[in-house]
Amino acid sequence: MPQMKVPGSVDVLLKEEREFFPSPTFVAQANVQDKAIYEKAAENREAFWAGCAKAIEWYCPWHQVMNWTPPHCKWFVGGKLNVSYNCLDRHIKTAARNKAALIWEGERGEERTLTYWDLYLEVNRFANVLKNLGITKGDRVAIYLPMIPEAIIALQACARIGAIHTVIFGGFSADSLRDRILDADAKLLITADGGYRRGNVITLKQTADKALTECPNVKDVIVVRRTGLDVDVVEGRDHWYHNLVHHAAAYCEPEQMDAEDTLFILYTSGTTGKPKGIMHTTGGYLVGVATTYRWVFDIKDHDVYWCTADIGWITGHSYVTYGPLANGATQVIFEGTPDWPDKDRFWRIIEKYGVTILYTTPTAIRTFMKWGTQWPDACDLTTLRLLGTVGEPINPEAWIWYQKHIGRGHCPVVDTWWQTETGGIVIAPLPGVMPTKPGSATKALPGMAADILTDKGEHVEVGGGYLTLTSPIPSMMQGIWGDPQRYVDTYWSRWGNRLYFTGDGARRDEEGYLWMLGRVDDVINVSGHRIGSMEVESALVSHSAVAEAAVVGIEDEIKGQAIVGFVILKEGHHSNDAMAETLRQHVVKVIGAIARPQKILFARDLPKTRSGKIMRRLLRDVAEGRVLGDITTLADAGVVEELKKKYDEEYA
Ligand code: PRX
Repeated sequence: MPQMKVPGSVDVLLKEEREFFPSPTFVAQANVQDKAIYEKAAENREAFWAGCAKAIEWYCPWHQVMNWTPPHCKWFVGGKLNVSYNCLDRHIKTAARNKAALIWEGERGEERTLTYWDLYLEVNRFANVLKNLGITKGDRVAIYLPMIPEAIIALQACARIGAIHTVIFGGFSADSLRDRILDADAKLLITADGGYRRGNVITLKQTADKALTECPNVKDVIVVRRTGLDVDVVEGRDHWYHNLVHHAAAYCEPEQMDAEDTLFILYTSGTTGKPKGIMHTTGGYLVGVATTYRWVFDIKDHDVYWCTADIGWITGHSYVTYGPLANGATQVIFEGTPDWPDKDRFWRIIEKYGVTILYTTPTAIRTFMKWGTQWPDACDLTTLRLLGTVGEPINPEAWIWYQKHIGRGHCPVVDTWWQTETGGIVIAPLPGVMPTKPGSATKALPGMAADILTDKGEHVEVGGGYLTLTSPIPSMMQGIWGDPQRYVDTYWSRWGNRLYFTGDGARRDEEGYLWMLGRVDDVINVSGHRIGSMEVESALVSHSAVAEAAVVGIEDEIKGQAIVGFVILKEGHHSNDAMAETLRQHVVKVIGAIARPQKILFARDLPKTRSGKIMRRLLRDVAEGRVLGDITTLADAGVVEELKKKYDEEYA
């Protein structure tokens, strides 16, 4: 078992803080009130999911609920549907037509509300724009936008015409954008003249122009005017969003998609230097996210839901763009950051729009704890009725703080474990049914199953091990774009092709509750964002001064983990603060600011096994100031001891 530790400490909690039961008032109104749902689902998973799929409108019903040919599972085989139709057209025939779908707040306080009818019109027009530019079913469209309504409109428009969208987070560099556009072979890019971040303008179009110099297949670029910043316009290639939309027809017939047609690709980091293009389907994905959204967030017609995730991550897809709209929910979307212009921004937004459900990250919660309760205390948060977290393990202290100071002691907290690969939530409480324990995501949702296994694949009833999923899930990834073998190797080969390897470690307690322990592979989770050690290593070695590099994640009180790089310089280069800063900047340039190493440590050599493999485990020991683990397999034990001495001197 790789070394892992329990994040935070359960022992510091008072006895009465160890378990929370849903209040009778909450239970009485909950979407799921009967815990028999777990058994019912387990008895016949196929029938259960078929029942869930009936909440979606299909042009043509499926003839087989599930076709499980390990490690591939097809869902709702033969069924035909359109995701955008389900998110929009369905609602404009009901009272939801005039209901707010999106309430957008820009960083500078601007406000824009789109009803379902408004959003329907915008999506239809933009879908026609894409069609007019020659985009058809199956074409890939890259999206590089800030958190503005056009981002959601763009995704929905792609879904409407059957184009496969691939969103690249606005914080990624030109190189990262280029690599993803090339891998997906996108024909068109949708971007903006810029975005706002902490009062500064992020020059998205400029970055995109740089990336596009090496993307010959991108024939058209659609630019949303967000900031008014002057941008270069490439004649014949670049088009202003508003001009195109203005001339587009108001209705676009939704494409009838096969349940197994690809809806989108989203790149995520793995254990190699190359990010994986995770593919999601149309039918299974929509059924999965629409159902889990209704269950876990207990969404009601009168709710105002706010998920703080950016569109660039899976949460911004599943629980902003698709899950809420499929359920006809009203949601807030926000372009900015929690501390701009002041540290009360989130609480002001909740007060202003009467937010009832908040979904955010443990990193954000720990940051709020550090800032102090005076910020939330100064705002009226009484509308809140449910709180959620996602992206990384939450320590019990942060969970309790969230429940007490933001939820005022009566909001259930749903800690939701899932991944880009699973598409939707897998492990989380049903808030009206499942007692919660601070720091535990509780158990797998109905119709899903998780287990803890040892290295050899033996079941662990109580204790720690590798987290695995043991039954197919409708929203589960379809594959890796352009690399089917990597799909099998990465996820389905550790214990045979029926058990999905999550890459996470977890512990199960006596009552079957799961406690997440973080990644067990070479993936670093910084503030809930996945970054591969190897990606940062290749960014470092692409600098002319670097001979070799090894990167590890170390524990960070706020961000969960922080990146530390060990670097061997080439002859003639000096290891000093200026060089460390140059290298940090270089990583930002190559990948983006999220991958910026917190520390760079220069080394003479790196600890390697006799076969030449870098032992990151020992580097983690060094960087976290621990006693060194087993060094008997090292080619040269002196290397790591020297490194430890140097590190302790510098950082102790
Ligand atoms: O390690 C787990 C962690 O985030 C990883 C998935 O990252 P990503 O694909 O970027 O998706 C993030 C949003 C779903 C997982 O392998 N993770 C996610 N949620 C939790 C979590 N770790 C502990 N508790 C969670 N609730």
